[in-house]
Amino acid sequence: MNKFPQSFLWGAATSAHQVEGQNIYNDWWQAEERHFLKEASALACKHYELYAEDFAIAKQLNHNCYRFSVEWSRIEPREGNFQADQIEHYRKIIADLKSKGIEPIVTLHHFTNPVWFSQQGGWAKFKLQGYFLRFVERIVGELADQVKFWITINEPLVYSSHSYLLGVWPPGKHSLFKTVKVTLNLAKAHIKAYQIIHKIYRQKSLSRPMVSMAANLQAFEICQPTLKNKLAVYLRNKLYNFYFIDKLLRKKTLDYIGVNYYSRNLVDVKNWGIRSLLVETCQANHHPLPKNSLGWDIYPEGLYKLLIAMKKYNLPVLITENGICTEDDNLRWDYIRRHLEQLHRAISQGVEVLGYIYWSLIDNFEWDKGFAPRFGLVQMDYQNYKRTVRESARKLAEVFKNNEI
Ligand code: GAL
Repeated sequence: MNKFPQSFLWGAATSAHQVEGQNIYNDWWQAEERHFLKEASALACKHYELYAEDFAIAKQLNHNCYRFSVEWSRIEPREGNFQADQIEHYRKIIADLKSKGIEPIVTLHHFTNPVWFSQQGGWAKFKLQGYFLRFVERIVGELADQVKFWITINEPLVYSSHSYLLGVWPPGKHSLFKTVKVTLNLAKAHIKAYQIIHKIYRQKSLSRPMVSMAANLQAFEICQPTLKNKLAVYLRNKLYNFYFIDKLLRKKTLDYIGVNYYSRNLVDVKNWGIRSLLVETCQANHHPLPKNSLGWDIYPEGLYKLLIAMKKYNLPVLITENGICTEDDNLRWDYIRRHLEQLHRAISQGVEVLGYIYWSLIDNFEWDKGFAPRFGLVQMDYQNYKRTVRESARKLAEVFKNNEI
């Protein structure tokens, strides 16, 4: 049996828009109303009302942490108009978690923005990030005494590429220039937010918080050992996996590294063009692997390899997301078990890991893919919002209880 370190964080994650329901003041809701997306989030999982029920399940499943996001657009639905009752809602959420012995891990930005912010130009306008920082100052000021772990921004590169390059998320742009700009603005916003959070804790004489962002890391693997493929893997690792982390580390603004890991990207590049090098993948299924219901390769070794590559940073890592959407719950357990084995392997080779957070606690609204992908440890019946614990969740609960795999 493989033991995990003492005080290991074990839990699951959600984000506000994907589970709460009726986030009517954000840019996703607005895009949904315009039928820009194939499905609308509507009531989502009614988690805004039913959170205590969800946390009772998490507790019963031996979770000792829970990652969630505070919804900026609820707290500040109109510019400068902060809603005390919404802040109170998140206070209650945290109090409920703590009463159950569950550590809150709070994300400040998970893809959604208030409509008023996006209407003025959103993350593409550098000067608007002052609004985000004002929100950070306010909400962290309110919650600091109850929260130790913060995640400023979830997957900045996924956000900038989906919203500004691929155009599949609001605001639906197709501009490389804006994508770069947004990415850089998000990095600057993180750096400032990090400093603000630490300042607040100092002012309140609270012990040092743990602040990071959640990076989406992919395992880039060469399909055939050609020079082009090797160069492409090198570039992609540098650009997509480590560019952002390196940038924030130069400013000393990561207390740990939040890692979201799902899948492999099998690199097979036809020519030397920059587009090929940066985006082409193998279409011929040369090294087939089992897949999740969205067609992503299941590749647990990738997690191990990335963690070993990150040893050089000399910072603790927190797995802030890892999970599978599938209709086959045996496959879900298989996915989790194999990833935990690889995680343990990395730990036994000297990688400091603080915890493992599964995506997601409950099935939820998977952005532009709608409600079809089922990522949850807990199954959601969207007719009546009944929650049913899956077998994989019970098996994981045993791991959590015994702190071993
Ligand atoms: C992540 C994202 C989550 C969730 C997950 C599954 O990129 O942070 O919100 O959607 O992927 O696709």
